[in-house]
Amino acid sequence: MDSSILIATILDWHSEIDRNLPWKYNSSPYKIWISEIILQQTQVVQGLRYYERFVDRYPTVHDLASSTESDLLKVWEGLGYNSRARYLHQSAKRIVDEFGGKFPVEYSDILSLKGVGDYTASAISAFAYEQPHVAVDSNVERWVSRYYGIASYKSSQSLKTEVKSILLPVVEKHESPAECNQAFIDFGALVCTAKQPKCIDCPLSQTCYGYAQSKTADYPLVKPKVPRKKRYFHYLVAVDNGHVVINKRLNKDIWQGMHEFPLYESDSLQDLTHQDLCRYFDINESTSIESIISYQQILTHRIIIGKFYLCKLKRGTVKIGQWMSVDQVKKIAVAGIVRLYLADNMFIFNDINKIENGK
Ligand code: ADE
Repeated sequence: MDSSILIATILDWHSEIDRNLPWKYNSSPYKIWISEIILQQTQVVQGLRYYERFVDRYPTVHDLASSTESDLLKVWEGLGYNSRARYLHQSAKRIVDEFGGKFPVEYSDILSLKGVGDYTASAISAFAYEQPHVAVDSNVERWVSRYYGIASYKSSQSLKTEVKSILLPVVEKHESPAECNQAFIDFGALVCTAKQPKCIDCPLSQTCYGYAQSKTADYPLVKPKVPRKKRYFHYLVAVDNGHVVINKRLNKDIWQGMHEFPLYESDSLQDLTHQDLCRYFDINESTSIESIISYQQILTHRIIIGKFYLCKLKRGTVKIGQWMSVDQVKKIAVAGIVRLYLADNMFIFNDINKIENGK
């Protein structure tokens, strides 16, 4: 099918669709930027909640620029890939300082913002300014590669370039690049889905290469998965009278800038012995461990196994972090694995007597 007819078919399909997403293309460039950064690594359903919270907290680029990094990380907590939040903050400051608080309009200026690649710059240019760009995300590359049988790898530059070369000439001729781009994304998200595509209802199935060959599952090509590396985080949960010892993660590593309990990282699943704990955390031999609980968090390239050793220590005796109250802990951003532990174990703060009496 000629690509202009193909796209007309998709636009026709799209005219019946109303996903009612809050970052609709008549929104401000600032809000479109925020939504696209959130959606880079997050599903729409989950992203929606964070988007609403984010723009409620920071309605303008000025609000974001004048926020603190720890405040921002708290709003971002749970979304992951925290460098996205840090880059948003740095870019907001640049927009205020260098662009007089007005979101840049030129594609090259948008692309120069930290954390913004070709996809996001194209999405902002098309959605906010009706400029002729194509934002090729995983939804778009999926349906185009299936339809034409393009044997390139998922997320590869060569696939993106090829998809663009097919779609851009038609978008350039269309009066609304925003509408075209939203239709392309929605078509992949709702019809040509990653699993169990809706070929029966698809207006393109009769001319689709993947469908004709019963090979929709083979496009785009997927590289064999590299097994996730495991990391073992041993945490000392030192409590005293509604307080717990906390540290900030300062190194360039996952969860940078977020908080956690005093940590020892090992290379095995083995529990630390009492002797190890005394040595690594500089605690007294007479300190008893009340419980050891494990949690696991699966990240894109890593599996984090967290072991939490709960003990009672006297405030003032510990030099391995800062004592914080439950209210303070609720206000700070905590590392993902610590959040999992706290979600089930908040009693460590307010039911300390149980720990004492439960011995
Ligand atoms: N995913 C990324 N950008 C999107 C958008 N504008 N609408 C829906 N899903 C998206």
